[in-house]
Amino acid sequence: MSRRSLTVVALIAALISVVDVGAAEAIPAFARQYDMQCNACHTRPPRLNSFGEQFHLMGFQLPSAARPRGIVIDSLALRIFGGLFEYSKSPRETETKLAPPDEFEFFIARALAPDLSLYVELEGAPNELEFEDGRFVKKGRIGLGKEAFFMVNLGRLVGLAGAPTMEMGGMTMVGRHGGFNMHGPMLMAGKVDPSTNFSYATNRQLILDTDADVKHGEIERLPVVPYAFTSKFFGLFKNRDEAEPQLVTDQVMYNTQGSPGADFHAMFQNNLYLGQVGFLRENEGFNAYGVFRVNLGEREGFTFNASALANWGFGVVRAPTRDPDDPDVLHPSNRRLDRLRYGVAANARWKALDVYGAVIWDRLFGVPGDIRSEFDRTAAGLTLQADYLAHETLLLSTRFDQLWAGGLRDRKRDGTVLTAQLRYYPWPNIAFFVRDSVNVRSFVEENPLRSWRNQLFIGIDWDF
Ligand code: HEC
Repeated sequence: MSRRSLTVVALIAALISVVDVGAAEAIPAFARQYDMQCNACHTRPPRLNSFGEQFHLMGFQLPSAARPRGIVIDSLALRIFGGLFEYSKSPRETETKLAPPDEFEFFIARALAPDLSLYVELEGAPNELEFEDGRFVKKGRIGLGKEAFFMVNLGRLVGLAGAPTMEMGGMTMVGRHGGFNMHGPMLMAGKVDPSTNFSYATNRQLILDTDADVKHGEIERLPVVPYAFTSKFFGLFKNRDEAEPQLVTDQVMYNTQGSPGADFHAMFQNNLYLGQVGFLRENEGFNAYGVFRVNLGEREGFTFNASALANWGFGVVRAPTRDPDDPDVLHPSNRRLDRLRYGVAANARWKALDVYGAVIWDRLFGVPGDIRSEFDRTAAGLTLQADYLAHETLLLSTRFDQLWAGGLRDRKRDGTVLTAQLRYYPWPNIAFFVRDSVNVRSFVEENPLRSWRNQLFIGIDWDF
């Protein structure tokens, strides 16, 4: 054989071995470490099923003696997702866009010891919304992702302090067999997403959040996200020095996608009840919250859980004041506002059907006198979703979002959006999706929540 054909053969052989290994290993971190199928923990990735939630609650440990296997490489995973095609319609313009998937996340996730685990997310997005010198811009960004935390089981410490403990499935639990028992408390600290324990989590949406549209430094169209978890008020600011607006659709407080903080949770009576408390930094202030959750176990394929939330934000946002020369221009006022958030969420699963919803109320305290008469201090949001696994490879979803907005009366508008989506999984770790969102209310050109009629996306969600 000539030297050249030898090279070609060697190259092909190398390629085949890479592709082969790639196919065998083309599964994310937890599946690799525990040698499990994605669907053991996910309805379909990225949504967790009851077992996956349990696995998360226990600090990425399995309730058996199973130890993560493999080497460091098994702790890494990559996710690439985003739109391939976009079509949006409003009365004045119709836009179509072809774009490569524009977001990637890199995960390092692993149980390091029976009582300690680590979860770090790095992300890259070429089209991220940023606020710079008083204007919104789209920019490329690579950095620490939404979540980066460690989780420790403090059960052993509680035991050292004198409480009875027992070993179950390689994990320390507080209590006695047949009597009171508690798993935890677990401490999750770093950049955390506490709502992972809520009956409706902020992250891991099957219907991805859309991007905001920016024109001349201003938000022209707000993204479609689960409205229940958003800031909900028109006219607020995040801070004084940069005067960055807090967008109506920012997912805030307990329902953040990830903020610096410390979160404690514990499960009682074999996971029938869950209690959670924690602190989170937000803008110039901080949050304190508590959650109580009830899990009814499986009966004939039916499971149900419900959660209640109470959250107080200490000085987390700033009220607006009007510019003395031009009342249309807003500035952050000197006062920081407190914000009360409370709400409930529930999730029922029956065979191939998964239904979940949340309703959340917000109320602001300390709104200054000069704008009090024109500022609505209460707001609420409702989000309801149903997923139906029509076939091993086909997941149908629909979501209803309702926002009863608060804030400046001359700017605020309520929003109602209905979304439908079809996700096709040719392999467990790859999904193609088609989705359509409809603004159910009237079109309002100057309002970024309502400045559109219809948005259609085709995209991909791909995990390695
Ligand atoms: C042993 C349970 C388990 C298995 C098996 C598993 N996962 Fe996960 N997965 C999780 C948990 C728990 C999380 C949530 C981590 C978090 O956000 O804190 C997660 C998160 C994810 C996410 C992250 C979403 C995000 O952006 O926050 C994706 C994507 C994902 N899994 C895909 C997969 C795929 C694909 C497979 C199979 C090849 C798989 N997972 C197998 C438990 C599992």
